[in-house]
Amino acid sequence: MSGKKFEFDYEVFDDISKLDEKDAWLLREARNVTENAYAPYSEFHVGAVAMLANGQVVAGTNQENASYPVGICAERVLLGNAATLYKDVPIETLAISYISKSKTEEIKSDHPISPCGMCRQALLEYETRTKKPIRLILSGQEGKVFIIQTAKFLLPFAFTPEELI
Ligand code: THU
Repeated sequence: MSGKKFEFDYEVFDDISKLDEKDAWLLREARNVTENAYAPYSEFHVGAVAMLANGQVVAGTNQENASYPVGICAERVLLGNAATLYKDVPIETLAISYISKSKTEEIKSDHPISPCGMCRQALLEYETRTKKPIRLILSGQEGKVFIIQTAKFLLPFAFTPEELI
């Protein structure tokens, strides 16, 4: 038997004012684009905004459906938009934010959330196929900001296309 360990470093900032201007701008955009989410069922509005290697900016928001499993997360909407508009262009940085509009519960948007498992799988393959790590900026509408250097860190033991060869 041999023991193994998976760990990674990430950065923690107290708030948006501690980021450099480019990152702060991207995070502000992600916070604002939560307004375009269609989330009448969960009332949990997620916004994602990416800076591409060609300098273009692409966004995504979660889009729900009365048939609940049809709904799609902000991150995968963004990846579809990026791949369609700018084929094969890597994503350099992706900011993700959220706000809850629940009328019954007060869910604060004061801490980072990270992508769901399905989105991690999609982000990883996007990185692999464009041959560039996607740097993640995670934060609520206020409070701490996490910066993670690559989406790959979020999915150890991933299932990858090599398994299919
Ligand atoms: N959601 C996202 O858009 N991204 C995530 O990373 C987590 C969850 C959406 C899916 C659903 O519309 C709502 O948030 C509540 O789960």
